[in-house]
Amino acid sequence: VAARFGAGPLAGKRVLLTAGPTREFLDPVRFISNPSTGKMGMALAHAARTLGAEVTVVLGPVGTVERGGLDIVDVVSADDMAREVLSRVGTVDVFIATAAVSDWRPETRAPQKVKKGASTSPEALTLVRTPDVLAEASRQVAGQPKRPVLVGFAAETERVVAHARDKLERKGLDAIVANDVTAPGAGFGTDTNRVTVLTRSGAQHELQGSKREVAQALIELLLVSPS
Ligand code: CTP
Ligand code: CA
Repeated sequence: VAARFGAGPLAGKRVLLTAGPTREFLDPVRFISNPSTGKMGMALAHAARTLGAEVTVVLGPVGTVERGGLDIVDVVSADDMAREVLSRVGTVDVFIATAAVSDWRPETRAPQKVKKGASTSPEALTLVRTPDVLAEASRQVAGQPKRPVLVGFAAETERVVAHARDKLERKGLDAIVANDVTAPGAGFGTDTNRVTVLTRSGAQHELQGSKREVAQALIELLLVSPS
């Protein structure tokens, strides 16, 4: 009901998120990607919506997800995601980057399917860097009078807090949600999550539960009653 009438603690707030993986095609039938399902990002989007926010999700290719109440912009590649985010981030109150953006893409995309022919070993694939959507968004809004709150995620397999703190500093974020993707019940495709939230001010919070519970707790912690 709160969502339908635009009431709730986040009424009038505009929240932009990225979610899901990206796909970087090397020919019409092959791509580089990762196992992200977009679950955590979509759970955050719905949690913010339920509290009254107007929510846009720039969403990479995922299976069926609950789209009701959200403005969803479907994208495929990191380049697409960057373009759709950079054209919107200047007018929002909050930007939360949950997407597992491919860090690399094939330098060229063959117009036709690459044939294996008679080769017994594959041709080398030359990769180039994709845009860092979050870092570019942060740079773009840096000088703005009313800069949005910027929240990143960090998928790590070791030295989780140290790597996440480094990303928070490097990308100019207000908070980062660090995720040990190798921990049981955390990471890609699971229904549960265990995260450590680090804020620019140095605060550190541990959250765990279903992705939905963690999403609600994160929205509460970061947007409703930030410390
Ligand atoms: N991110 C992004 N665009 C990229 C890469 C990352 O927007 N091209 C965002 C992610 O959505 C996440 C944060 O940056 O919010 C950190 O992503 P992560 O992959 O953990 O870190 P990277 O900076 O890519 O560093 P690395 O993969 O080397 O650990
Ligand atoms: Ca990365």
